[in-house]
Amino acid sequence: MSRRALVTGASGGIGETFARRLAARGDDVVLVARRQGRLQTLAGELAAHGVDVEVLPADLTAEEGLAAVEQRLRASTGPVDLLVNNAGFGSNGPFAELPLDRELAMIDLNVVALVRLTRAGLDTMLERGAGAIVNVSSMASFQALPQTATYAATKAFVTSFTEALAEEARGSGVRLQALCPGLTRTDFHTTASWSLGWLPSAAWQSSEQVVDASLAALDRGRGRVVVVPGPLNRVAATASWLLPRGLVTRLVSATVRR
Ligand SMILES: NC(=O)c1ccc[n+]([C@@H]2O[C@H](COP(=O)([O-])OP(=O)(O)OC[C@H]3O[C@@H](n4cnc5c(N)ncnc54)[C@H](OP(=O)(O)O)[C@@H]3O)[C@@H](O)[C@H]2O)c1
Repeated sequence: MSRRALVTGASGGIGETFARRLAARGDDVVLVARRQGRLQTLAGELAAHGVDVEVLPADLTAEEGLAAVEQRLRASTGPVDLLVNNAGFGSNGPFAELPLDRELAMIDLNVVALVRLTRAGLDTMLERGAGAIVNVSSMASFQALPQTATYAATKAFVTSFTEALAEEARGSGVRLQALCPGLTRTDFHTTASWSLGWLPSAAWQSSEQVVDASLAALDRGRGRVVVVPGPLNRVAATASWLLPRGLVTRLVSATVRR
């Protein structure tokens, strides 16, 4: 039986890869993002897999767009079995110097939209006693990150929120995952004005590696809630949990100021 997934931020990067991987394995997909042209092009390609593809253009920081996606998640026809809350962006610079409007828009997208869509998806999934939600968080959720303070704080919220909901949903048939990628080659860093070209290639993953780790964890059934893709990222995450928080913050600060 085919399943249906709704992916936010499907017009590029990790979200586009989720849509490609899911359609390739026979899942119907609902594609959400602002750039309608990119979604239409992707939809044309994915239809070749013989799956049903819906394009739902929406700005998730605008009430109209967010309400439209909530409504789609609550629709009884064509129910959504997998929600991937992936749309998100970051920024770079001391908080006191960054435009406040953009920082607030980041909270609207990374936190408020994610919470509202999680609620809409969860309500119908709990009713059906089945479904899964992947909230795309970040390794940035594990410690404070100077120079991208708001972004790291939004992702700390996403990881904590998802872990709590996963526990609340235990035994309900609904699973939640906080996917915590490290550096992944997408447009994310250009959008956030990060110049990280000096980092060695070993520090980076492809969006395919990230998405495959997420789907493999989901396929394994109930189990890991926080998914950190890649052995190097898992070592770094473990170190950040073991070392004193203040030391980790200073180490990260020294790295990003390089
Ligand atoms: N790349 C990394 O190193 C990395 C690491 C850890 C976590 N992540 C997380 O992974 C997720 C995906 O990022 P990415 O790396 O794939 O970046 P990306 O290539 O920049 O993709 C971001 C996606 O979000 C969508 N989006 C942005 N603003 C939106 C809005 N207001 N309404 C609806 N959609 C919006 C964009 O589509 P439109 O512009 O068409 O709207 C795009 O599809 C984010 O949550 C990010 O925080 C990324």
